[in-house]
Amino acid sequence: MLLQVQGINTYYGLSHVLFDVSLEVDRGEVVVLLGRNGAGKTTTMRSIMGLTAPKEGKVLFNGRDVTGLVPYKVARLGMGFVPEDRRIFPDLTVAANLDVGHKETSGKPKQWTVERVYEFFPRLKELSKRRGGYLSGGEQQMLTIARTLMGDPDLLLLDEPSEGLAPIIVKVLGEFIDVMKKEGMTILLSEQNVKFSLKHSDRAYIVDNGHIKYQGTISDLEKDEEIKKRYLAV
Ligand SMILES: Nc1ncnc2c1ncn2[C@@H]1O[C@H](COP(=O)(O)OP(=O)(O)OP(=O)(O)O)[C@@H](O)[C@H]1O
Ligand SMILES: [Mg+2]
Repeated sequence: MLLQVQGINTYYGLSHVLFDVSLEVDRGEVVVLLGRNGAGKTTTMRSIMGLTAPKEGKVLFNGRDVTGLVPYKVARLGMGFVPEDRRIFPDLTVAANLDVGHKETSGKPKQWTVERVYEFFPRLKELSKRRGGYLSGGEQQMLTIARTLMGDPDLLLLDEPSEGLAPIIVKVLGEFIDVMKKEGMTILLSEQNVKFSLKHSDRAYIVDNGHIKYQGTISDLEKDEEIKKRYLAV
């Protein structure tokens, strides 16, 4: 397993938000964490990344205990986080935004160069001189993903990437996820968009009120009308 989350409990101040959350992602898998508004998806991502350290439980990455490690160190070990609020630099050009994502990887040959990123996202090449603030929501989402790829992650955490995007852009995003998977990337996705998630993932977890309520394959979840109705409002 590339990522193992073992019984984490996470708090914001005194507020207990995650309760014994466990999940696993194997190398090469696309796993989705589904859940409604406020269910605990972002908090799970933040806990994994070290942005909000869990009080109890463990996060193992590549077999190594990274619980409580500061985010930049977790990133250096090969975790790339694409936050839901995107956070591109509006005053920097697309090219400069990508440069920010570049990370010196000591010894390891670089997987993602600007050229490869542009090949992968041709639209970003066309926009390379434009400032981030002048991009559409979909273009900003692609830029955030591209910038994270520039850091050569082994695991990509995508927090609600489809949120706020037009259906046509969501479709493009799904195609990128499929291609990244084909190229061997491991992805943990969080989503509310059930249809989108089921189409592009191998396995699913459902989080509700900070508890994992379901785990299974996509085909099992697809058939489970009761679970979908209860936790996903579909
Ligand atoms: N900084 C914070 N301080 C206190 N409580 C927070 C904070 N961030 C989130 N929460 C609470 O933690 C719970 C889980 O929130 P979280 O953001 O993880 O949910 P989510 O599944 O990502 O929701 P969304 O779909 O809206 O992004 C919610 O009850 C939320 O109100
Ligand atoms: Mg969230």
